[in-house]
Amino acid sequence: MPIIAANFKTNHTRASTAKYVSLLSKYLKTNSTTEVYVFPPLTALDQYETLANFTLGVQNAYPAKNGSFTGEIGTEQLDEFNIKTILIGHSERRHILKETQESIAQKFHYFKTLNYKIIYCIGEPLEVKNEGLDKTLEYLWAQLEGIDTNYENLILAYEPVWAIGTGVTATLEEIQSIHTAIKKVIGKPLLYGGSVNLGNVEKICALPNVDGALIGTASWIAEDFIKIIENTKEL
Ligand code: 13P
Repeated sequence: MPIIAANFKTNHTRASTAKYVSLLSKYLKTNSTTEVYVFPPLTALDQYETLANFTLGVQNAYPAKNGSFTGEIGTEQLDEFNIKTILIGHSERRHILKETQESIAQKFHYFKTLNYKIIYCIGEPLEVKNEGLDKTLEYLWAQLEGIDTNYENLILAYEPVWAIGTGVTATLEEIQSIHTAIKKVIGKPLLYGGSVNLGNVEKICALPNVDGALIGTASWIAEDFIKIIENTKEL
């Protein structure tokens, strides 16, 4: 069963997310072979209809129930919408929002304690990729420091920074060599992310050691995302 996830990033409104979720739910009611996740912006959280194979999660939250953390939301706010799924370690939070490995590990630990499903992202920047496979793996292992990779509700996502939002996808060989190396050490579902689209998703998801995809840009139009699910459902 492939796992296909949509990361809206800072796109979509509450109204457009509602339309998107309604279209997607309608499709998923009769197509239940894919495990689907959608990560909308926080303002779009709502009481959506629940389906066994469709989960709404958050792109980020603060590791606290509530308190004085201006600009953040905690689990009290997530509980209101029955959210129990979170993305942690995304490269945009690491590089743009300057989250450190230490703060990411703390966040992981907090949400693990509450039994959240965690999609944990790792990925190297271009200058590290250019140093070769050993250096790349060294960099990726460092991004797993302080993370319990045996956690039962963990899904990993390999998203090379140079492939995110650039239209440049890693080659099938590149994806396969990194995924195989990771899977040798960590036996968790492993998604690939980085310029995945309708044209390449099937080949990527069919690779050994690729369990699905975490998709940004190409997931933002519901009809396209549904086609992506349709094209990978037999894998
Ligand atoms: P793109 O699909 O836009 O490259 O984004 C990938 C990503 O960051 C998903 O989390």
